[in-house]
Amino acid sequence: MKSSQRDVIVAAERYRILSFTKLEPIVIVEGRGASVWDMEGREYIDCYSGISVVNSGHCPPRVVEAIKRQAERLIHSGPYVYHSLPTTELAVKLAEITPPGLERSFFGNSGAEANECALKLAKKFTKRHEIIALECSFHGRTIGTLSVTGQSRRRRYDMGPYLSGVSFAPAPYCYRCPMGRSYPECDLLCARRIEEVIEYHTSNNVAALIAEPILGEGGIIVPPDEYFKVVKELLEARDILLIVDEVQTGFARTGRMFAVEHYGVEPDMMTLGKAIAAGLPLGACIARDDVGMAFEPGDHLSTFGGNPVCCAAALENIRILEEEHLAERAEEKGRYLMKRLEEMRESKSLIGDVRGEGLMVGVELVKDGKTKRPAVEEASRVREEMRNLGVLIGVGGVKGSTLRLQPPLIISKEQLDRVLEALEESLSRIG
Ligand SMILES: Cc1ncc(COP(=O)(O)O)c(C=O)c1O
Repeated sequence: MKSSQRDVIVAAERYRILSFTKLEPIVIVEGRGASVWDMEGREYIDCYSGISVVNSGHCPPRVVEAIKRQAERLIHSGPYVYHSLPTTELAVKLAEITPPGLERSFFGNSGAEANECALKLAKKFTKRHEIIALECSFHGRTIGTLSVTGQSRRRRYDMGPYLSGVSFAPAPYCYRCPMGRSYPECDLLCARRIEEVIEYHTSNNVAALIAEPILGEGGIIVPPDEYFKVVKELLEARDILLIVDEVQTGFARTGRMFAVEHYGVEPDMMTLGKAIAAGLPLGACIARDDVGMAFEPGDHLSTFGGNPVCCAAALENIRILEEEHLAERAEEKGRYLMKRLEEMRESKSLIGDVRGEGLMVGVELVKDGKTKRPAVEEASRVREEMRNLGVLIGVGGVKGSTLRLQPPLIISKEQLDRVLEALEESLSRIG
């Protein structure tokens, strides 16, 4: 390959289909712990984790060893034709660590595939065909998952038509309440609206509601504490299944192994991906025993899904999360980060809202605290300034102005302080 960083960037711009965003002008060649290095040897603190993937850090040596061991023995056999040891071990482990009642796993290669499985399974089990999703949600980039994604800008835009039979309920987005209310006086109107969505927008043939416990791509939107209890009660009364999409929130990110634990509800299905295998491609849909039994032979399959190497990586990764108490560490560091950000908000008028759980933190930038006009350009400039200062962050949200701080959970306090300093300095430079 070409020798300089610049050459690689020029070749990528010539030969790759770049379909998401303009790539940042660095070529990352190495990662360790919470840091990555570019081709010129420059170190960056990674505060985005490859979009919330490397929760246990970059290249954890135990996972690397597990991958090597499994790759030397067996890379692929077809876990849907023959039994496979790591695949079955992982299914048993997921049943142990997910909320009570979830027992049977299907494995694919991505979060989108996990959600595709959940949607099909819900239809098959209930023999109903409509789905309810949330505005501001994100569930993947396949046509099926975009159909249940509640965002047009840079997601559904230009890609229709989508699947029919999907209705959207308001997002629990308190900073920009779609009903103009404020919490707690609103009495969870956004959750209660689901009843009217069923009544007025569907043909009363609803199989499931799919929701992220914290809406990541929507801008790290954290629903109020009682939100999912109200939703679950309402669904149970109608025998509608609750699918919780934990693709981004799962595996200790929010201070619990799974974010739905913050809400004290038991979903009927949960979808997993991203951080499950420390960066190897794997997705899973775990369902209640009876729901998981609904598929019949021939109903669903993914050639590489449940690949033994990815499953061996996931098993070792989960052991690390447990043994190193990464959920507790994420909770503690997240509390510290949020406190410092709240303090920063007092002196930085661009910061409109600070929200999150554990190390899944969003900072929404606005041009004016009263009108809440999104500071989109400013958010991009902050990302650029922070990169110049050696810190990588994400920018997103439905308004395009939320800074996303989602570092590996093993990040040290000293590194977090450097992130906060870089953020403060960047806000000052552009302010
Ligand atoms: C909540 C959620 N669900 C599903 C997906 C899709 O996952 P993948 O990109 O692995 O298909 C994402 C990706 O960002 C996500 O955040």
